Order: sequence, then C-alpha cells, then structure tokens
Amino acid sequence: MSLSLGSLGPSGPALPPAPGEDLSVWPASTAHVPGGDLAVGGVPLAEAADRFGTPLYILDEDEVRSRCRTYKAAFPDADVVYAAKAYLCRAVARWVREEGLGLDVVSAGELELAVTTGFPPDRIVLHGNAKSPQDLRTAVRLGVGRIVIDSGTEIARLAALVPPGDRQKVMLRVVPGVSAGGHAAVRTGTDDQKFGLSLTDGSAQHAVDRVLGQPGLALTGLHCHIGSQVTTVKPYVAALRRLIGLMARIRDQHGVVLPELDLGGGHAVAYRPGEPALDITALATRIRAELAEGCARADLPVPRLILEPGRAVIGPAGVAVYRVLTVKRTAGRTLVAVDGGMSDNPRPALYGVRYLPRLVGREHSAARALVDVVGRYCEAGDVLAADVSLPDDVRPGDLLAVPVAGAYHLSMASTYNLVGRPPVIAVSAATARLLVRRESLADMTARDVGA
Ligand code: LLP
Repeated sequence: MSLSLGSLGPSGPALPPAPGEDLSVWPASTAHVPGGDLAVGGVPLAEAADRFGTPLYILDEDEVRSRCRTYKAAFPDADVVYAAKAYLCRAVARWVREEGLGLDVVSAGELELAVTTGFPPDRIVLHGNAKSPQDLRTAVRLGVGRIVIDSGTEIARLAALVPPGDRQKVMLRVVPGVSAGGHAAVRTGTDDQKFGLSLTDGSAQHAVDRVLGQPGLALTGLHCHIGSQVTTVKPYVAALRRLIGLMARIRDQHGVVLPELDLGGGHAVAYRPGEPALDITALATRIRAELAEGCARADLPVPRLILEPGRAVIGPAGVAVYRVLTVKRTAGRTLVAVDGGMSDNPRPALYGVRYLPRLVGREHSAARALVDVVGRYCEAGDVLAADVSLPDDVRPGDLLAVPVAGAYHLSMASTYNLVGRPPVIAVSAATARLLVRRESLADMTARDVGA
C-alpha cells in the first residue's frame, strides 16, 4: 500500500523497511519512519500510542480487505465465510460484508451484533457444539442462512423451533478422523474431541437419517473443521475425500444429493518470520482438483464449497502496542514488563505461541539483549514473549509492538485484575480512528449490583 507521505506530521516521510529487517509478518503497509518508529496504514505507532493510550490494538483495514480479496480471488466459486470468533466488532463485520464474505458465528451475541450492523442473515452460518436455546431461537428468528448441527440432541431441539411450514437450512458437522492443527487444544478433526458427529462409529450417518426425517429441516450439506493453524494442504484433502465418501453413501441410501460442502477454516499464519503459513492458492488448486476428481469418481455433481477462515483474514492485520513499565534483572534474566499481557493476549499461556515484539517509537542501540517480555497480571505465567532479542537499552517508557495480533487476542480477552480491555483502532490512508473504546472501571463495575 502506498503511504500518504505528507500526513505523517513532524516525524517526516515513511521509508522502506531497513535492509536486513524482516517485516514479513507485519501488515503490508508497514514502513519505517525517521526516528526509529514504524508506521502501519500510514500511521506512526508512537503517534497512535500517544493519542489512544496503551495497550492499544491496531487493525490495518486495507490488510483485512486485501486478505478477503485474496480468498475471493483464490476461490471464485466458493462462499468464503469469515470466522467471527477470531475477532468481531461492527467495523470488521462491515469490512467483510463489503468484501463479499459471509460470517461464521457461534453465539446469539456474535449473530445479533452482525445482523444489527446490517450483515445479511442469509450469509451467516451458526456453529457450536452446545448451542443454547437462545442461540437457536435467535438464529431461527433472524433467519440465518445455515445452522451447523453438531449433535444428535440438537436435531429435535432445532426442529421444534422452526415455525410450521418453514424449513431451516442446516448442515451436519462430521468428524473426518483427520488429525491436524498447531496445538492439541485446536485439533478438532478426530473422534476424541467434543465437536461434530463421528464417521467411524456411525453417528454421522444416523444423524443424516434423523435430519432427513424432519420436515422443518433442509439438509444442504456436510461440514468439517479439522483444526486451527494447519500449515499444509494434505489434511484438507484427506478430510474432503471422507466427506465425499459420506455424500455418496447418503445418495445411495436416501437418494439425496447434497449441494454444499463446508471445509471449515484453520489456515495457518506465521507469527514470526520463517514460520510456515498455509498457502491459500495451493489450497485452492488442490481442493478444486480433488473435488472434481472425487465427485467424478463417486458420480456426484461438484457441491458448492464453503470455507471459514478466521485467523488468516484478520490475524496479520493486527498490531498490539504496549508501553514498558519496568525493566528488572533477576536470576541472570532481563524481564521487560509491559502494561498488557495475558488478559489481552492469552495465547502464549494457552498454546505456548511465540511472538516477536519490536521496540518502536525511537532510535535504539544496535546491540541486542535476550529478554523476557512479561505482562502486568498477577501470575508468574504471564509471559508475553520469552527469550526475545530487543535493543539492550530498552527502558521504562519505551513502546513495544507485537505483530500478528488481530486474531484470538481481544476476542478471548478478560478483565483479569479488573483491568479494562484495550481499545481497538483502525488505520488506513494515514488516518487512525477509534473502533472500540478502552473498557473503563465504570464499564466493569456497572454489572456489579450486589454489595
Ligand atoms: N470454523 C470453525 C467451525 C471453527 O471452529 C474455527 C475456529 C474456524 C472456522 C476458524 O479457524 P481459523 O481459520 O481462525 O483457524 N483460540 C485459538 C483458535 C481457536 C479456533 C477455534 N475455531 C487460537 O488462538 O489459536
């Protein structure tokens, strides 16, 4: 993206990245600003931190939009459905809607927010292994496009909510028996986890019988989501083959040809330079070929493909900015403590994910030191980034920026220690605007009605 050079104010024009500095995991708009800062979307990070305070979450709107376009271009005949759980606010719902994507939601909350922001309900897919009565009622009332049935219990429960004469489109979540994903907590393709209906023990086939027997439900297809942070195409191909096999059996047994097939999301991104990311174009090529061949072999028409990327749409568009509060040397280590941590980013603690913070906002010494960047929350496990290299003159008042902060940070954030959650701003064309304000103590205490 080109920068509007005149609007950078006193810091002067943006420069291309310094030779040797690998900014490959940062938004494409990231540029050096004289004085040692980085600009994202044309907005210097130090300026944004001064204006909005820290910790601060920044979303590069053009990066989100261009990632949506990459999916649309790679999968022109598919429905690309953004997984809102990665991060949702009104602006993000609008961006993905305007880019022609659908939305995957997992609660009445995500659903209501999207629909009240103008998201067409028929482009929304509702998931969840344990949807509440309110989730299901809201989905039926608002007319969501697809509800993905995840258990036998849900079939009659949902059917009972559909008004007589109406038909709710549903898909069935199948466990394909494929192990993939970056951490045990996000592997959802095998029988030993809570999502979906097993192919191996016959639950999926049994659920198909039952759904087809419900006049209020219209089965449009099968769904699977094998896991998250999947770096290679192979497990998707394996899952696809098994789903096509089940589609053929459904056709043979029931004479029903299902028109849709949802392969879920899970496309990996790199959090640090050099880490593997899933190649979306390679995925598209392999999936298209496999769909065509597999369906031809099974004598089935090629179903309409649905994909549900979350992280790969928004993760690399986000940058978190923290201020250093203390620097402490203890037991041979240097601990750089910042004003955020595990409550805005629980991912290092939950999945052992490694981030690469960068000092921004000033020139710094070339000499490096290995440090641990720790958070402000009251537990020893609140480590944002262990063993990272920072300039050895890092000191209180400095700013540290963490790239690839757009997915599963704020959507999983808490108010631990009664610290309000950070604000979110959008940057684009050298302009920053507030999307979600910082959570105040008043916000938090408003719910506390006891005493
Ligand atoms: N579709 C379904 C049915 C899902 O369950 C998920 C993610 C997605 C799509 C989107 O997956 P993505 O493309 O974003 O990987 N909190 C974890 C990730 C949990 C993913 C849950 N389901 C993390 O921070 O890595």
